[in-house]
Amino acid sequence: MTDTALSPTETVHVDLGDRAYDVQIGRGLIDQAGARITALFGRRRMAIVTDDTVAGLHLARLQAALAQAGIQAEALVLPAGEATKSWDRLGQTVEWLLAQRIERKDLVIAFGGGVIGDLVGFAAAILRRGVRFVQIPTTLLAQVDSSVGGKTGINSPQGKNLIGAFHQPALVLADIDVLDTLTPRDFRAGYGEVAKYGLLGDDRFFEWLEGNAAGLASDPARRAQAVRHSVAMKAGIVQRDETEQGERALLNLGHTFGHVLESATGYSDRLLHGEGVAIGCTRPLTSSARMGLCSRGDPRGSRRISRHGPADAHRRHSRRPARRSGADRPDGAG
Ligand SMILES: NC(=O)c1ccc[n+]([C@@H]2O[C@H](COP(=O)([O-])OP(=O)(O)OC[C@H]3O[C@@H](n4cnc5c(N)ncnc54)[C@H](O)[C@@H]3O)[C@@H](O)[C@H]2O)c1
Ligand SMILES: [Zn+2]
Repeated sequence: MTDTALSPTETVHVDLGDRAYDVQIGRGLIDQAGARITALFGRRRMAIVTDDTVAGLHLARLQAALAQAGIQAEALVLPAGEATKSWDRLGQTVEWLLAQRIERKDLVIAFGGGVIGDLVGFAAAILRRGVRFVQIPTTLLAQVDSSVGGKTGINSPQGKNLIGAFHQPALVLADIDVLDTLTPRDFRAGYGEVAKYGLLGDDRFFEWLEGNAAGLASDPARRAQAVRHSVAMKAGIVQRDETEQGERALLNLGHTFGHVLESATGYSDRLLHGEGVAIGCTRPLTSSARMGLCSRGDPRGSRRISRHGPADAHRRHSRRPARRSGADRPDGAG
């Protein structure tokens, strides 16, 4: 496919000096992945890591798109779910990438949600002391949050995301059409992280979400706007504080309570990460309101997000809650 045949995208540049990269957001990007990746990096050896759900739905398309650009990429298919962010799966991934003879100049492709992105990014960080990787996020959560910013890692029995590295991707391709196959529950869980950006002091975005959240699942234009705005907010914060010495901790809003709940439910699908974040956003706000610390406070808005997700978020409520009363601990979040 020639460049002129590529569909229009919105690009958010993450300006990190020699680790800078683009996040391309648009429709049909998976079918153009070969052209888009080789346009930037030439014809390299590439290897894909994905999970079994994403593989069943979309892997053949990605491999065909790469083949069109002359790249024969093998794929490692791991079990879907949070339990895959483990030492065992990390070891399996690294050994497989070595067997694929992936060198520093080559590319590893993380094709999946936040679980695959975090695990594969970490594998890329430690393989041969660091190889480049491309994020092709396939969940709303991964498109608006985890694929951008370079936090990678796995879970420990002692806590979530406690083992990892900062390793920025070389490119992020966020194909908003791939979200069509998400379950409503996974879509809603991702919305927990979208709403988080609205709560982080962006009044206009919060108000826009109130009016448009219900349409995100069905309307590509609104979906693209929500992803682009969230990514731009995250990119801005990461540019100012890449390794979370200060401001980046704001992105952990909702995560202290969320992680406790995730741990209590054994990182199982009883509670998804985004659901934990949504609940975790409401708790500090409720407590802050009770303690009189929410200056403009009315925690009803964020509680409605956690109970009902975007489908109900269009109903008006009195006022949005005060910002950042729950931006919490710096470590382990994500
Ligand atoms: N690195 C960061 O900055 C950061 C930020 C936020 C969250 N995270 C991490 O992200 C993880 C959660 O990510 P997630 O919610 O994407 O979870 P996930 O990767 O487990 O994906 C959720 C489910 O959706 C399925 N799926 C993925 N794409 C699909 C598609 N297009 N159609 C149908 N099903 C699809 C997956 O197989 C999985 O079952 C957590 O581990 C969290 O810690 C990291
Ligand atoms: Zn998160």
